[in-house]
Parts: sequence; C-alpha cells; structure tokens
Amino acid sequence: MMSGLLSQLRIGALDLPNRVVMAPMGRARSGPDRAPGEIVARYYVQRATSGLIVTEASSVSPMSVSRPGTSAIYDAAQVAGWRLVTDRVHAAGGRIFQQLYHLGRKADHTRMPGGAPIVAPSAIACHGKIVGANGPVDFAVPRALKTSEIAGVVGEFRDAIRNARAAGMDGVEIHGANGYLIDEFLRDGTNRRTDRYGGDIANRARFLMEVVEEAVAIFGADRVGARLSPHFGVDGIADSDPAGTFRYIARELGARRLAYLHVIEAVVPGTPHSPPEMKPLLPALRDAFDGPLMANGSYTREAAEAAIAEGQADLVSFAALFIANPDLVERFRRRSGYNAADPTTFFKGGAAGYIDYPALDAVPDGGPRIRTRKEERRG
Ligand SMILES: Cc1cc2nc3c(=O)[nH]c(=O)nc-3n(C[C@H](O)[C@H](O)[C@H](O)COP(=O)(O)O)c2cc1C
Repeated sequence: MMSGLLSQLRIGALDLPNRVVMAPMGRARSGPDRAPGEIVARYYVQRATSGLIVTEASSVSPMSVSRPGTSAIYDAAQVAGWRLVTDRVHAAGGRIFQQLYHLGRKADHTRMPGGAPIVAPSAIACHGKIVGANGPVDFAVPRALKTSEIAGVVGEFRDAIRNARAAGMDGVEIHGANGYLIDEFLRDGTNRRTDRYGGDIANRARFLMEVVEEAVAIFGADRVGARLSPHFGVDGIADSDPAGTFRYIARELGARRLAYLHVIEAVVPGTPHSPPEMKPLLPALRDAFDGPLMANGSYTREAAEAAIAEGQADLVSFAALFIANPDLVERFRRRSGYNAADPTTFFKGGAAGYIDYPALDAVPDGGPRIRTRKEERRG
C-alpha cells in the first residue's frame, strides 16, 4: 500500500485523498462584521485539492479581537459567511475543519468592545508590540480571569463549536498553540494561578481539556483535532519543562481519541518554532499521542516525504507554500516549481496576493484554474 505524502489516509471520520494539509492562516479578508464573504470562499476553493483545509484561526468571542478583517464564529452573520465557504469547498470536493481560538493576552486592547480589559490566566503581558487602532503599541497587561469566569469562556468555545457545525464544517481544530489563551493556560510561565486551573500540569491543561470535551460532545472525537507549539516562545510565553508539559497533553488528547494532533515544530532549527537550543519534541509527542500526527513548520515536499517515510508523522501541513501555490498538491505531484509568496500582502485585504496566485493550469481569461476532483475523474 502506498504511504507517501500523496497517498490516501483516514483520520477520524474523514477519508483524505492525500496527506497534504493546508495549515491554518489568518489572512484578514473578512468583513467588518468578521464574517467571511465571496473572496474568502474563492480563496479556500482554490485550495480544496488539499487533503484537508484547516481554516484561519476564528475567534470564539467578541472579546477576542485583533486587526480588522480577522474572522470569527460567534454570531449568525459569521455562521452564514462560513456556510458559504463550506458549501463551496464541499462542492469542489474538499474537506474543511475550522480552527477556533481566543486571543487571550494577545488581544488588541485598543479595539476591545466598550473598552473592556483583555484577559488571560495571569496578569502577565505579552512581549512585543501590536498594531493597534492608532499604530504600534506595547501589549497591555491582561486582567487575570476569575475562577468563576472560566466556565463562561469555555461556554463561548462551546457556542462557537456549535456554530462551526451549523456552518457545515467537517470538524474543528482547537488552537492550543502560538501563545493564545489556551497556550497561556498550558505553560507555567504565563499561568501562575493557584486555583484548579493552575499549578501542576493536570490543572494547567484543564481549560484545554474542557474545551476539547465540548468539541467531542458536539462533533464526536473523530472530527476534532488540536494544535500545539511546544517550542514557540517569541512573545515571552515559556514553560520550565516543555517536554513534560507537552508529553502529558499529547497523552491526554490521545486518550480522548481525537482525529489528529497537529504539532508545530520547524524542521529548520533557528525559527520561532524550533529554537536551536531545544531538543526536538516531535518524536516524544508521536509516542505519547495515540492517533494520527500532523507535523508543521518549514517543511518542503522532500522533508515531508521523509517524515512520513520514517514514521515521524502521518500528515504534514504547509502554510507559506499554500499562500502562493493554490494547487500545491498538483505541484507536488508534478514536482514542478513554486510561486513565491509576497509577505506584504499577507494581511493587506483585497484580492491581490490572496486569490490571484496562478495555478499551473491557469487559463488566459484570468483567474487561477484548478481542476475539481470530479473533472479529474472524468480525465
Ligand atoms: C500569514 C500567516 C498567518 C498565520 N495564521 C495562523 C493561524 O491563524 N493559526 C495558526 O495556528 N497558525 C497560523 N500561522 C502559522 C502557520 O500555520 C504555520 O504554523 C507556520 O507558518 C509554519 O508553517 P510553514 O513553514 O509551512 O509556513 C500563520 C502563518 C502565516 C504565514
């Protein structure tokens, strides 16, 4: 049986035609109501030949707010916007999970509704600056969530998970990576709580597990994934024992029989996701998690093939390569070259640098042209 990057794989309830996953990427193209529209649907449809699309991180709460154009899934207009996306992706033969998050201490305090404070497990500010409503400013010191408030935030995740299902998503990915609210709970550098959500790792993981259990109750474990970034630390998030912390979490997620675990660990050392001083954790997490493992972080086709061949991962997700190459799977198949991504358009809004990267079979009348799987079957 074929087991390479372009071979089929069943994960949870889904049969994937290949193991090339579109990694979650915020692109700031939603409307002022934080609902995706036509242009967003077109962007995802162009990438529907991937084994699985994981959407941009979508906020579960109006209190999780950042730059304009970021998407959310807490109200009816947003559900309608995402329904447009899922209907079109499914019509093109694709599969799509929604990534769900709360920004926590990385929310933009200059844009909070009613001037509400930003929140986190503990009152420790994120390092670095944010581009606020009036230009770059330091992150604000968050207010520590009261124990009695945490059920309400889990409830926002629950409502968002229900909304994702109403919007026709095939499943959800719980975003426990990159220093956002869930990650802030997981690590002892940002979680100094003394209640049942802080202290030992079982307590620090409680918030993530409560969210995951809501997702499992709504979608079934076979339609739920989770994302972790054990090495990430550029924003000052840190843990005194990343190996112990993330091994525990991987084991607990495996016990819940999730569809997959998504681990960001760059194959190129020296990136924010793989500092040279840290020992790679992917093998330990592979052992600890009982289920399909999705690897991410500066993978090339060759590195991804090697990771799968050596059993380090079952699937690989690609971010930057998917921005510029909507037909990445076909490019892998043909071993062709790639378009280069233009970082100045990553969050710029509009069609340029979003839906105008040409596919290999681009037709001259404009607009990338990708054969749907139905067309492929017709030959
Ligand atoms: C423009 C952009 C937006 C991103 N947004 C998200 C996001 O919403 N959620 C997330 O988990 N990671 C996000 N990431 C990180 C990517 O998913 C991925 O982990 C990272 O780019 C490394 O993968 P790559 O080397 O294949 O690009 C983003 C990356 C880029 C370039």
